[in-house]
Amino acid sequence: MRKKVTVVGAGNVGATAAMRIAEKELADVVLVDVLEGIPAGKALDLAEAAPVERHDSRITGCTGDYSAAAGSDIVIITAGIPRKPGMSRDELLLTNMKIMEGVVREVAAVAPEAILIIVSNPLDAMCHVAYETSGFPKARVMGMAGVLDSARCAAFIAMELDVSVENIHAFVLGSHGDAMVPVPRYTTVAGVPVTELMSTDRINAIVERTKNGGAEIVNLLKTGSAYYAPASAAVEMAEAILKDRKKILPCATLLEGEYGISGLFVGVPVKLGARGIEKVIEVSLNDDEKKALHRSADAVRGLVEAMRRLRG
Ligand code: LAC
Repeated sequence: MRKKVTVVGAGNVGATAAMRIAEKELADVVLVDVLEGIPAGKALDLAEAAPVERHDSRITGCTGDYSAAAGSDIVIITAGIPRKPGMSRDELLLTNMKIMEGVVREVAAVAPEAILIIVSNPLDAMCHVAYETSGFPKARVMGMAGVLDSARCAAFIAMELDVSVENIHAFVLGSHGDAMVPVPRYTTVAGVPVTELMSTDRINAIVERTKNGGAEIVNLLKTGSAYYAPASAAVEMAEAILKDRKKILPCATLLEGEYGISGLFVGVPVKLGARGIEKVIEVSLNDDEKKALHRSADAVRGLVEAMRRLRG
């Protein structure tokens, strides 16, 4: 039986994710958007690339109709507005909260067993909306951000040290926002902690660049936010689930006491397999790292409370 992944939002992140899933033959893909013609057009374009790319994944596009998403194994939700230069991810809260609620209601009705991978911003807050609206167990609702933030950190280290990206294992925790927590102590190059290989100044510069990685791209593009790396990150998570790889990846998950945090979606390492988040991995953190992670959780709490007030 073929697997099915629905991607909601046929913008740049959604369409790129659809392309990667199809080209890796991970699943058939359904692309859904509210815009007329765009999902069908992009799906057809991707289907026409298939003979050249040599894959047999089926790709369909639908406007506002979720029936084709029925029985999806995974639903990747990218719907929402992206930020403009000078905006923080948090400024998208109200608009994207409403979009997320509407999308998740539709998805939960046709794909009640699906695993949700949330990509829309502000990421951690949108995970709360998806979790509460769907009523799904926490193992089946997660946010994509740690993989992206770690990939950015790894890319910067590879550029700096002129080594293969494959040698680098970067470790970024916390919320996908200004309070994210890159952890150099657990960031390694061929197994060697980066703290042994680079000066504190250089490491700090890379930590800052990682935290501002999304804004750096927004400022360059001017009319949207990053999409190649966000799509790659979401697809890595989907692949780990579809192939039951038990891969340990940093993802936004609902913490219930782990790391001393409760009732909040925050990025931490988890084990991803066929059942979704199969385990939250708790690594030991020093006092500074703990403080930074808690600051990150406080930022998420602020957004969750703001949404409660907005809902009344
Ligand atoms: C970024 C957006 C997708 O970090 O949050 O580029």
